[in-house]
Amino acid sequence: MNTSEAQQTPDVEALVRKAVTRWRSEPTGLLQVLREVQEALNYIPPQALSLIARLLRQPLSRVRGIAGFYSFLSIEPWGRYRVLFSDNVTDRMQGSERLLAEMCHRLWVEPGKASEDGLVSVATTSCTGLCDQGPGMLVNGRALGRLTSERVEQVCGLILHSVPLADWPVELFVVDDNVRRPDALLGHGLEPGDPIRAALRRGVEGQFEQAANERSWREGYVGAALGPVAVLEEVKRSNLRGRGGAGFTTGIKWEACRHATGSARYVICNADEGEPGTFKDRVLLASHADLLFDGMTVAAYAVGAGRGFLYLRGEYRYLLDHLQAVLKRRRDANLLGDTICNQPGFDFDIEIHVGAGSYVCGEESALIESLEGKRGVPRNRPPFPVTAGYLQQPTIVNNVETLCAAALIAVRGGDWYRSIGTLKSAGTKILSVAGDCERPGIYEYPFGVTLRQVLEDCGAINTQAVQVSGPSGSCVDETEFERRIAFEDLPTAGAFTIFDASRDMFEVAHAYTQFFAHESCGFCTPCRAGTSMLMHSMAKIRDGNGTLHDLREIARLNRVLLMSAHCGLGHTACNPILDTMKKFRPMYERRLAARDFAPAFDLDAALSRARQMTGRDDPGAHLENSA
Ligand SMILES: Cc1cc2nc3c(=O)[nH]c(=O)nc-3n(C[C@H](O)[C@H](O)[C@H](O)COP(=O)(O)O)c2cc1C
Ligand code: SF4
Repeated sequence: MNTSEAQQTPDVEALVRKAVTRWRSEPTGLLQVLREVQEALNYIPPQALSLIARLLRQPLSRVRGIAGFYSFLSIEPWGRYRVLFSDNVTDRMQGSERLLAEMCHRLWVEPGKASEDGLVSVATTSCTGLCDQGPGMLVNGRALGRLTSERVEQVCGLILHSVPLADWPVELFVVDDNVRRPDALLGHGLEPGDPIRAALRRGVEGQFEQAANERSWREGYVGAALGPVAVLEEVKRSNLRGRGGAGFTTGIKWEACRHATGSARYVICNADEGEPGTFKDRVLLASHADLLFDGMTVAAYAVGAGRGFLYLRGEYRYLLDHLQAVLKRRRDANLLGDTICNQPGFDFDIEIHVGAGSYVCGEESALIESLEGKRGVPRNRPPFPVTAGYLQQPTIVNNVETLCAAALIAVRGGDWYRSIGTLKSAGTKILSVAGDCERPGIYEYPFGVTLRQVLEDCGAINTQAVQVSGPSGSCVDETEFERRIAFEDLPTAGAFTIFDASRDMFEVAHAYTQFFAHESCGFCTPCRAGTSMLMHSMAKIRDGNGTLHDLREIARLNRVLLMSAHCGLGHTACNPILDTMKKFRPMYERRLAARDFAPAFDLDAALSRARQMTGRDDPGAHLENSA
């Protein structure tokens, strides 16, 4: 039974000491220690903060700063049952706001606050990655989808009777994969370890002598074993590009890391999947974890890394036990650990770190900061992670899907992979299809598929728009449905959110603006202030107080953010408004109070006393006539 639900008086010191020991008393474990204490106690009490600071040899102010940065951590108690409703636009479309109100009513709690007896708190969080089976929510980190009034009533009953989460009906926690269209990757048919064995074979079959292979494969680029180089060449030949959003060529990234000088190299899998509307990594983690870990191990072999990390978003905490079990099985099968597959010197292992509710931690340098136990603030770049990443050592950061594709390439070869897709976009892309369609779920296509084809396959009718790649991507209208999913046309990290003609695209953009304001990490002023100004401008327009001036201001703000924001979050924050304003302009205009600038303060009227005192009331003494 979870300590927090059982209401026992916990031994805070013992708990903290155990967590600190589990994370080897290293400062890099700070976030993980805080997260584990939070999970056990519902909050991080002052004595825990002090003890953690002492044991990890960190200033208390730093420990507090980290606890304050991540939205899943709190220094105030939450309810013993912590309910977080997923607040993506698709959850709202499926009635999440009404269900949240129903739950608060049944439990007698105010949204965002713990009940007086400390039993429960109900609040919202950004997209939980259950868009294909929403509305969704998390209860003490466990995911529940397909919420209805009946489900909410059932959950309220369990909470009011203090039933431990472990005893809740299992069907409440079923999360389906919903794979509707598998292709080369989802239908891979490989056994655990196949990609590693294939990578090792590629080395042996390489053009260089076997003797070279017997030298330590991690000696560095010059004089290194030639197996890894053969694997690297294969990945380069495949023209695989990153699936996390930026589309960087994977082979080139790996090669740069291999060439970089450092005392150690690292492989990081980015499983932060925070872009609203994206849930394909959830499915890969849940049902293809072996392929992913094979991909990470092949990457480690190619770049010469001895240690890897999987950064799992906090919202997917419920997948942790399963992933740990897969890692253990792989260690037992000699697919991880020392002398992998009996290859002398091939030592590599993977550790899982769980995030704590911060979208910006998906940005690779912020992710590395978070892995080092710090606040997830993006670094200045250059230097890039390939030369100065985790602990300033050469590091590759790749998306879950990219690493799975690399595993496939190790087995089937670069030429095979390149033969799928388009000229500039090799392979397949997994789409997270949600919103207004009959069959939401996971669809894998060769690159080059048209939007119209996807819409047909998922049973979308009367579609007016698709948000491709989430709020930071593009909103396309029906005149563009012949466009293709490809780096050369519509690149995407995976989200494919459909809106039919009944939807108000202004409200969609408004919801996305709230998301950016909530997720800005606050490090740089243009983004911190700009995203909040955007949210207020949208609220002003929604309330019927906006003017054309506000629309012009948004365009101006976009230029400021593009020029001066520190990371991609700030650069893309205006995208949803600009796209919808261009393509669905009437939805904005009909809300405007006036088409011209209407000042909140009438300066000319305020100057009337000055005119009286100077005895002037000629036209030149009025503002509209002054130059
Ligand atoms: C605000 C922000 C959030 C991001 N979130 C993710 C994410 O959740 N998952 C991901 O793989 N990449 C994310 N990225 C992109 C990463 O910075 C990085 O480009 C990616 O992990 C590289 O992997 P790839 O080359 O395999 O695509 C994000 C970028 C930004 C600016
Ligand atoms: S742009 Fe926004 S999210 Fe990125 S560093 Fe600046 S404040 Fe943080």
